[in-house]
Amino acid sequence: MILLDKTLNYNEKMIAVAPMMDWTDSHCRVFHRLLAPHARLYTEMVHAQAVIHGDRDRLLGFDEVEHPVAVQLGGSEPEHLAQAARIAQDWGYDEVNLNVGCPSDRVQAGRFGACLMREPALVADCVAAMIAAVHVPVTVKCRLGVDEQEDYDLFHAFIEQVSAAGCRVFFVHARKAWLQGLSPKENREIPPLRYDWAYRLKRERPELIVAINGGIATVEQVREHLRHTDGVMIGRAAYHEPYVLHEMDAALSGGDLRDRAGLLRAWRPYVERQLSCGVALKHMTRHVLGLFHAQPGGRAFRQILSEGAHRPGADWSLVEQALAATARELRPAA
Ligand SMILES: Cc1cc2nc3c(=O)[nH]c(=O)nc-3n(C[C@H](O)[C@H](O)[C@H](O)COP(=O)(O)O)c2cc1C
Repeated sequence: MILLDKTLNYNEKMIAVAPMMDWTDSHCRVFHRLLAPHARLYTEMVHAQAVIHGDRDRLLGFDEVEHPVAVQLGGSEPEHLAQAARIAQDWGYDEVNLNVGCPSDRVQAGRFGACLMREPALVADCVAAMIAAVHVPVTVKCRLGVDEQEDYDLFHAFIEQVSAAGCRVFFVHARKAWLQGLSPKENREIPPLRYDWAYRLKRERPELIVAINGGIATVEQVREHLRHTDGVMIGRAAYHEPYVLHEMDAALSGGDLRDRAGLLRAWRPYVERQLSCGVALKHMTRHVLGLFHAQPGGRAFRQILSEGAHRPGADWSLVEQALAATARELRPAA
């Protein structure tokens, strides 16, 4: 059984969908919520300064069905992060997560993300300020280290310092990041995964909540990780093959599997509402292209949606056309 209600009562095992820039926007999260009623959902990273000074409706807006939903903040100024955390809490977020894992050049130039693995004292200050500012949980998503940091003890020391500041929950992307020479995409693929570091952390600090992230793509892998940790965070697999997310959630909660078409049609009222507010269909359907991955008609489904959703006036009938293509493939030849 998994938990998770929005009070973040971590007594049972957790499944979470990773924060992903350009991908896990509100449309995507609403879809993921239908697939995974028990999962914790994360926003794309948003910088603390943007939350403070930017267009909050656009940056923080979410749908009520998304709960439990966490905002992920980027930044390294304790005061700004505290202010942004408070604003996010007031918007209704159930958790505030700090990004200590993004390796992009832009993020490094701003002295936040993965490069903060080198500055545990600063991360501890940030976390302490955020915790003082809000009553919802403040959590950290981090790497194992950066660049030449090869030593488990350094990783452990990072966690020691940040947990001493009051953070109890860590999402560990179980590989390090190279800050020079690798793109963010390569930094999700090339540094080797070391799940054993996250397992060891949980063994040594059992009072912490340790959720593991990186390369998890099947129900069997989820089950195995949950033998050693408190939770799993799923990124690319959930996005590229969303039905796998449904299978994971159902397997852990003991819930029934629903079929793909039924899950997609459950999204229709949301999509219709957004269409009536002027949101173009393509902004929503781009998140569901992989729903029929490796299924009969999966290619036609993807093609109909990706070609048709750009046309002016595209509406739900296009989704039905795409579904019909999958149903046609299923029909036995006469
Ligand atoms: C398109 C994309 C955008 C991402 N954006 C973020 C982000 O905003 N914040 C973050 O902490 N991680 C981000 N990540 C990293 C993921 O959260 C996750 O740590 C990584 O993909 C490894 O998990 P996976 O192997 O399950 O995909 C992003 C990953 C992808 C593919």
